[in-house]
Amino acid sequence: MKESIRKANQYIDENRVKVNQQYRGAFHLLPPIGWMNDPNGFVYFRGEYHLFYQFYPYDSVWGPMHWGHAKSKDLLHWEELPVALAPSESYDKDGCFSGSAIVKDDKLYLLYTGHVDDEEKREETQCLAVSTDGITFEKLPTNPVIYAHHIEGIADIADFRDPKVFEYQGNYYAVVASKTPDDRGQILLFASSNLVDWTFTSVLLEGEEGQGIMWECPDFFPLDGKWVLILSPIEMERQQEKYWNLNSTVAFIGDMNWETGRFHVDSYDELDGGLDFYAPQTCQGPNGERYMVAWMQMWHRSIPSHDLAHGWAGSMTLPRKLSLKDGRLVQELPESVNEYFLVEHVSETIVQGNQITIPARGKQTLFELDAKPGCSFILSYSDKTDPDSVLKLIYDASQKRFSLSRDQFGHLITGKENPTFQSRWIQLDAEKDHHFSIIRDTNSIEVFVDGKTLSMTFYETTENPVYTLTADEGVDWVVKTYQK
Ligand code: FRU
Repeated sequence: MKESIRKANQYIDENRVKVNQQYRGAFHLLPPIGWMNDPNGFVYFRGEYHLFYQFYPYDSVWGPMHWGHAKSKDLLHWEELPVALAPSESYDKDGCFSGSAIVKDDKLYLLYTGHVDDEEKREETQCLAVSTDGITFEKLPTNPVIYAHHIEGIADIADFRDPKVFEYQGNYYAVVASKTPDDRGQILLFASSNLVDWTFTSVLLEGEEGQGIMWECPDFFPLDGKWVLILSPIEMERQQEKYWNLNSTVAFIGDMNWETGRFHVDSYDELDGGLDFYAPQTCQGPNGERYMVAWMQMWHRSIPSHDLAHGWAGSMTLPRKLSLKDGRLVQELPESVNEYFLVEHVSETIVQGNQITIPARGKQTLFELDAKPGCSFILSYSDKTDPDSVLKLIYDASQKRFSLSRDQFGHLITGKENPTFQSRWIQLDAEKDHHFSIIRDTNSIEVFVDGKTLSMTFYETTENPVYTLTADEGVDWVVKTYQK
């Protein structure tokens, strides 16, 4: 085993007890200690989901990237596994950056970015590692497998990263993020018959001005008769209520022309309307279903679990099941969530034009709310003794808006956005029924409504928390809370 991996595993084992548990979620993947960013290598292998992630074990800030690793049968309960990759070679000495996984001949392959950044050069190349047991990985002696020679005159080797590998019609392909000389995002397509020898195929898609100065973390897959390209633009420009976070996530939907290697876009939209969602990656389950998971955080925001010296920072979102309906990407809770929460079903209440309060018994709660056309609600979470500090979820049918806000609530989170904000909203059609699934884990809320989602983290200082639901006069509601 490489020394850098042995050292990281030993450090984790010796120091994990020091991690403060106060804000750690129960059913979201977290780093055992230290820093986590992007999901990597999301893959179904020998009957289990494996999820790797950008990981720096030694501090709760970003540092030379390792790949943390966990596996799960139901996408909610995660079993920690040893560190999978750590910087060890000249081509990845400053970090094993984001990438993906694929199963070939019952072996698990990781295609990742080797990052080099020193006084002499900044260079990003794509490298392969292989495992027969799904736990320990060997980097190929012939690494890197995609490098400067493949992109001469096409893209800059300094920003060339995050390969997502997939198989299509008997061939292997990888999409890789880069940018144009005038700072627009660009996704490159490469092909291989064996995962080792790669050729440049085409520029799959180029961004327009305003769509970000660099694209990161692409993923490209067929879904319900179309092709979907998801990616994460750095500094995409705001459009009405969309793309407010410093860096955004976008799904482009369209058709792939395999002869030209170009992707023709029908439409695109922001993937999540909340405050904390970045670098999503998808994986196909055993029956062809597609799940997506993202880093539930935003670059350059302060993270209270770091500021408070709790010894960890960052988490994943819940994996979401994807489909296309009426040309739109739809995200739903994975089925295992219902099983998880139904075990301890606590209350079911009909509210008729009034307000109910539900003492928060635990930090894991699922609300299911049905809103009839034109009717509004406010769901808040606050301390009985501190009415000014409130986490708010508001559906205002007259404004056709659903918003979530952590303004004035808990430990302050600051970011680099200008102007700054602590709440965001999405548009909803007021003429329609809406079903809201609102899922709360210790330090996060994820809202699912009409296939759209909003994700947000928070770090409460609340001691006697209550949920309060205020509903429109004369409207029936079914509120179910499942509190763990
Ligand atoms: C996205 C990203 C990737 C890169 C990784 C480094 O959040 O910047 O482009 O591979 O993080 O940790």
